[in-house]
Amino acid sequence: MNVLVTGGAGYIGSHTCVELIEAGYTPIVIDNFCNSNPESLRRVEVITGKPVKLISGDVRDGVLLERVFSENEIGCVIHFAGRKAVGESVSMPLEYYQNNLCSTMTLCKVMAAHGVKKLIFSSSATVYSGDNEMPLHESSKTGSCTNPYGWTKYMGEQILRDIAKADPAWSVVLLRYFNPVGAHASGLIGEHPNGIPNNLMPYISQTAIGKREHLNVFGNDYPTPDGTGVRDYIHVVDLAKGHVAAIQYLMNHTGEGVFNLGTGHGYSVLDMVKAFEKASGVPVPYVITDRRPGDLPACYADPAKSSEVLGWKAEHDLESMCRDTWNWQKKNPNGYDD
Ligand code: NAD
Ligand code: UFG
Repeated sequence: MNVLVTGGAGYIGSHTCVELIEAGYTPIVIDNFCNSNPESLRRVEVITGKPVKLISGDVRDGVLLERVFSENEIGCVIHFAGRKAVGESVSMPLEYYQNNLCSTMTLCKVMAAHGVKKLIFSSSATVYSGDNEMPLHESSKTGSCTNPYGWTKYMGEQILRDIAKADPAWSVVLLRYFNPVGAHASGLIGEHPNGIPNNLMPYISQTAIGKREHLNVFGNDYPTPDGTGVRDYIHVVDLAKGHVAAIQYLMNHTGEGVFNLGTGHGYSVLDMVKAFEKASGVPVPYVITDRRPGDLPACYADPAKSSEVLGWKAEHDLESMCRDTWNWQKKNPNGYDD
């Protein structure tokens, strides 16, 4: 079955293409490379030994999408395409609403016109309200997002929920990712952040390789065991496999399904530093600084529903998340620019 993968050249998309191919599916990627490099897909071809069909273009381009659906028999769609930097979304709100919401609406319109009504959507733990108890269940409270990026995910979910309600032929799976880290064990594909990384793991690995002087730990006075922020880090290969599991569900259900993709374990910033130092054998100097505005003390999933309904469970531990991040960083100090 052909699976249209929007944003398939990106970090999570490229790893998902590998897992799709290994599970016998044929990914067809559409990407405008606003935050990626086509080299990632060439490397997916090296890992899998299979060619990957790539359409270079924007998901908001309805004419292009018409052509893609007319020329290819698409069984379902995984919609990764979107902008994802929280801070940038605060300074460029229109770009975020325009890209993340118009892409979803254009895509669904063309899908419906071609009778393809099966979609997996990249949502995020960021849709959960900050006042929930941990762990987060799919039924935990959502909304009160603290930035435009978060609102685009919240609104994206709502748009898809409404589409599934209005037409019972639709099947929509909303996957709420926790904190994806790590890289493919080959070290050929991984995360390639533009400029100074916003997220913890790429910042740690760039510090370890000497590109950054030290890590800034944003606050050590949170109500957590060591005072630093706690998150649910999940290996990107586990996350990718979650999409393969979601396809099975998509094929056998209609309506809306929402699932957490996390491990259920929370690790602090200092846990991550220690685990990375152990896996890499390299010290990661750090300095405690002020809290980052908008950060929560802790955020981790209850992944029970994904396990029970999708039959999916994260398998990689913290050691392999750190080892694979370091392997990718060492082999590609400048990401795909090398
Ligand atoms: P990424 O930036 O590496 O990948 C997104 C891809 O989409 C890129 O290749 C980019 O070029 C492409 N793209 C963006 N807008 C496009 C458009 N209009 N048309 C065509 N292509 C477009 O990000 P990622 O980490 O792989 O994230 C994938 C999805 O998962 C995103 O929707 C993101 O919001 C969501 N998500 C990511 C995280 C995370 O921490 N990485 C957490 C939760 C949710
Ligand atoms: N942190 C630091 N120093 C850094 C970067 C992060 O101490 O340089 C801390 C943060 O304060 C937080 C933890 O490390 O406690 C994780 O921060 P990240 O920026 O890596 O991740 P977030 O949990 O803040 O957010 C990420 C994505 C969001 C997504 C969310 C849930 O950036 O887009 O996970 O999936 F919504």
